[in-house]
Amino acid sequence: MSLYAIGDLHLHFQSELKIGHPQRKDKAWKNHEEKFRKNCAKLLTNDDTLVLVGDHSWGKNLDSCEADLRYIAGLPGRKILTRGNHDMFWDAKKTAALNERYAGRLEFLQNNYYAYEDYALVGTKGFTFEGPFYLDRRGRIVGWDEKNEEHAKKIVAREAERLRISFEAAKADGYRRFVMFLHYPPTSILEDESRFTRIAEEYRAEQVVYAHSHGESRFYDSVLGEKNGVYYRLVSGDFLKWMPVKILD
Ligand SMILES: [Fe+2]
Ligand SMILES: [Fe+2]
Repeated sequence: MSLYAIGDLHLHFQSELKIGHPQRKDKAWKNHEEKFRKNCAKLLTNDDTLVLVGDHSWGKNLDSCEADLRYIAGLPGRKILTRGNHDMFWDAKKTAALNERYAGRLEFLQNNYYAYEDYALVGTKGFTFEGPFYLDRRGRIVGWDEKNEEHAKKIVAREAERLRISFEAAKADGYRRFVMFLHYPPTSILEDESRFTRIAEEYRAEQVVYAHSHGESRFYDSVLGEKNGVYYRLVSGDFLKWMPVKILD
């Protein structure tokens, strides 16, 4: 029995791919659904748990995501999903309805937690300021869009609050060991720490698992490895060649 994670499946069984997205031409994305299905079949058993860390589907509403969610439900083991920025089908305030609709097939993590052995799996979408950044001729950041940054701060505050609700629900039930899941990286490229890293440290989360940063060029955008007692991992599927990462035995 093991815990695995991966993010950014960006499934599109029923929907058009976004114009300009690397998924349209990058070979890492060619038949990625089939590669991922095969990897899961080899790696996972029905006793395992797989956490899918957001950006599940390109569908604009629940109806246009049905085939994508059915594909995920058909993978081996228990499947827990967190929200990504592209998951239009998932209104954070209506998570209970999603959990009801997919009861016994998929579990949606938002303002709640799920138990894995003596761990609580907690999380939320998170958020990071992504610019636009202004660069000098050498490519160094010399400024950024301050209005966007102000807006980002509000979303970060809201997401930090949702994360806290998840931790507190687990704590109230007696859990003291945590794995924390975010869709966005915990820090922006301007930051060494953030509300999210501070919350991870405050609750002594053993690991923080995140996605959203696609490809090799963005692999080092945020924290990786051990920092202040927390172990950070990026699990975007394209860079992992669609192989889920083992988080806990
Ligand atoms: Fe993504
Ligand atoms: Fe994303």
